[in-house]
Amino acid sequence: MAHRVLSGMRPTGKLHFGHFHGVLANWLKLQEEYECFFFVADWHALTTDYANPANIKDNIREMVIDWLSVGIDPSKATIFRQSSIKEHAELHVLLSMITPLPWLERNPTYKEQIEAMKEKDLLTFGFLGYPVLQTSDIIIYKASKVPVGIDQAPHLELSREITRRFNHFYGEVFPEPQTLLTAIPKVLGTDGRKMSKSYNNSIFLSDAPEEIDKKIRTMMTDTARKLRTDAGNPDVCPLFLTFHTLYSNEETINWVREGCTKALIGCIECKKSVIPKVLASIEPVQKRRRELEADPGKITEILKAGAKKASQVAQETMAHVRHAMGLE
Ligand code: TRP
Ligand code: SF4
Repeated sequence: MAHRVLSGMRPTGKLHFGHFHGVLANWLKLQEEYECFFFVADWHALTTDYANPANIKDNIREMVIDWLSVGIDPSKATIFRQSSIKEHAELHVLLSMITPLPWLERNPTYKEQIEAMKEKDLLTFGFLGYPVLQTSDIIIYKASKVPVGIDQAPHLELSREITRRFNHFYGEVFPEPQTLLTAIPKVLGTDGRKMSKSYNNSIFLSDAPEEIDKKIRTMMTDTARKLRTDAGNPDVCPLFLTFHTLYSNEETINWVREGCTKALIGCIECKKSVIPKVLASIEPVQKRRRELEADPGKITEILKAGAKKASQVAQETMAHVRHAMGLE
């Protein structure tokens, strides 16, 4: 059977360059090669934001606009919302029957997240069951490949274990999902830390060109290079590691390497050499965004059509599952 690829994102609103280079660039390639299902994990958003769900609707919209603006194509990939396909919840319940609690409790991501989001009460049944719901998302489409970053690898490992356990009890219903580990380039934010919405250091795909220009101009560089006459080191410079690495050609990179390490160029000059390339690459994306914003019904329509396709597959799988478990 040809590989089916599935991946999801929690609706966090507008996406930044980190999401683009880390996730979407990969999805763009995958949609050319495989049958792809890309979905908005809105129930997963509730595992942490249950007390304040007011933004989820807008966040879904903004995120899907970004997906489409960068070129995720509903004629190639099936795009939908998790909550539109109620079968995910049914399968989640059934998987919850067979998932041993200790598997969930010793999941390293679980403990880290609780620690990282101390301001929220995450000692809920839903949050503990996050990987069970994620397993349901994946196997309900019999997806064999799941592209995720390394941070999601423990979840995927759990999904494989839950799948094996299901097949052990009820027969070979599901293929074991394989992790398609994406080599994620390091995209650093304006303060030199990993680009992340929660650090307030992000450059968004939808930022106005002047805003992008300003953010890059003020982005952190090699902090040891205090004066124009100090030599710098591109290999520890966040601006270089992110923007030159992703957007500059070899010639420019060599020019920066030599100019920086010999103090022949200043940081502003260095930044100016890459900003136009970043802006040129984002221009068509922003043009598509404006078109989508001008046509509010379009996103709803695309999600509806995607849900229709996803629903057919999910219903078929659930008929198989109910039969295997003696429920029908
Ligand atoms: N947990 C994923 C994230 O935070 C989102 C997600 C939910 C997902 N279900 C999935 C990813 C299924 C891949 C497959 O990014
Ligand atoms: Fe970074 Fe360029 Fe400044 Fe060197 S010259 S520290 S690479 S911004």
